[in-house]
Amino acid sequence: MFHLIQLIVMVLAFISHEHEAVATLWEPPLDSYPPLIAPVTKRTGAAKDLYTVEIMTDWVSGQYVPSDFLIDIDAHLAWHACIVQPPISTYKCPIDTLCNTYIPCSDIICSDIRTFYSYESPSCIPVNNNTVLPGAGCTCPINVANPVTGGCLQVEISYDDFTGVSLVAGCAPSSALVSLPKNVTGVMAFSRSPYAYPAQLTNPRKNILALYFPSTTSARGLLLFGESPLYLPPHSDVDVTSSLSYTPLLAHPNSLGYFIGVNAIVIKNRSTDLPINTTTKLSTTDPYTTLRTDIYNRVAQRFSKVTKRIPRVAPVPPFSLCFKSFTNGTQVGLKVPGINLILQGGKNWTISTENSIKQIGKEVACLAFVDGGAKREPAIVIGTFQFQDYFIVFDVENSRFGFSSSLLHKRTSG
Ligand SMILES: *[C@@H]1O[C@H](CO)[C@@H](O)[C@H](O)[C@H]1NC(C)=O
Ligand SMILES: *[C@@H]1O[C@H](CO)[C@@H](O)[C@H](O)[C@H]1NC(C)=O
Ligand SMILES: *[C@@H]1O[C@H](CO)[C@@H](O)[C@H](O)[C@H]1NC(C)=O
Ligand SMILES: *[C@@H]1O[C@H](CO)[C@@H](O)[C@H](O)[C@H]1NC(C)=O
Ligand SMILES: *[C@@H]1O[C@H](CO)[C@@H](O)[C@H](O)[C@H]1NC(C)=O
Ligand SMILES: *[C@@H]1O[C@H](CO)[C@@H](O)[C@H](O)[C@H]1NC(C)=O
Repeated sequence: MFHLIQLIVMVLAFISHEHEAVATLWEPPLDSYPPLIAPVTKRTGAAKDLYTVEIMTDWVSGQYVPSDFLIDIDAHLAWHACIVQPPISTYKCPIDTLCNTYIPCSDIICSDIRTFYSYESPSCIPVNNNTVLPGAGCTCPINVANPVTGGCLQVEISYDDFTGVSLVAGCAPSSALVSLPKNVTGVMAFSRSPYAYPAQLTNPRKNILALYFPSTTSARGLLLFGESPLYLPPHSDVDVTSSLSYTPLLAHPNSLGYFIGVNAIVIKNRSTDLPINTTTKLSTTDPYTTLRTDIYNRVAQRFSKVTKRIPRVAPVPPFSLCFKSFTNGTQVGLKVPGINLILQGGKNWTISTENSIKQIGKEVACLAFVDGGAKREPAIVIGTFQFQDYFIVFDVENSRFGFSSSLLHKRTSG
């Protein structure tokens, strides 16, 4: 707990630094450009557990205020509740509303996003050029995915401003926020799209995104963008970023998200071999790791065998292997063997009990892996439950994905 409090202090210090830099239009020298550091919170209460990051947005009065955005490493374009207006508006921006300058339908940005970066789904209503701003031209609606419902949402693209960085983002009606957790004002895009946050933030910052997702709603995690050492108490002398394991980040022909290769899943010396370099997607909006049915069945069978002494209970969807966990008021966690992902390049990602077993109520604990169906593509999607309390790094500069050992273990053993 102690180190988390220190972390918040550090995080807030960086945010106010960032904020001041913006307010005074002061640009630090290139070689000392600070990384962007922002606090991350776990959110429950929506259809699934999600993670948000606190980012400064330009509010109506010209003041930077913090807003919470869902972290989506798969999204092409950020969107939030705002309205679009002509550059010099004859209409005042309504109180408590964020007003952005619209991007006309004739703009090259509009056709570029519509052609390459909009969400394609049968649920999407085709876009048109029929919305016209009084005293100005046509606006540019485009389709984005709602990461909570999977549904399609139409937003108007605009010039936006986050932490003093001007970028293109979508304005959605505030009614679009009902599916998001409380007080979450939109979705922040961290994919490799040129319209996502990393592409707009690089130069001079390096395109390296690090995330630390806490396992509880009360703890604070962090998002770090740029190249920076990171010291987490109580090991204040150890740079977390210097002791990571890496595996190559893989390109995917149909996606601007992040992928790695998994060659085998090993449980207690027994290997479930996968086709070499099985494409595995990393997701910040899927709560649990999903395996295609053939892989799921082999992993679940093996896991079931090595845990056969633990009494079973009826499965609790979406899980299919559940155990009786004798908590009797106090938590006596199950002890199960680690699930080792053998990654392309040979590194071994060990998923231990905290990240493989989900406690449900007091009596039941389930293997937190989900059967994704026989045709699931990609075959493996690693979800946020398996990232919790790890420090993970999407290092686009060096085309690699890095992960720490569990920070939870470090904390309890340190
Ligand atoms: C919208 O207008 C632009 C520029 O006039 C045009 O290139 C584009 O095809 C139009 N799109 C639609 C869906 O009508
Ligand atoms: C939502 O935000 C308001 C204003 O910042 C705050 O007072 C309130 O406690 C927040 N509610 C939740 C559920 O976070
Ligand atoms: C598991 O592997 C280790 C090291 O390779 C070996 O020493 C051990 O005997 C193996 N255990 C079983 C049960 O096969
Ligand atoms: C697996 O990935 C490695 C490293 O990128 C590559 O050299 C190898 O050819 C790949 N194997 C297959 C079967 O695609
Ligand atoms: C649970 O706790 C109660 C009261 O403390 C005790 O009587 C009972 O034996 C405990 N049961 C188990 C299974 O430990
Ligand atoms: C992976 O790492 C874990 C823990 O470090 C170790 O117990 C396990 O034997 C390793 N598995 C393989 C296949 O290397």
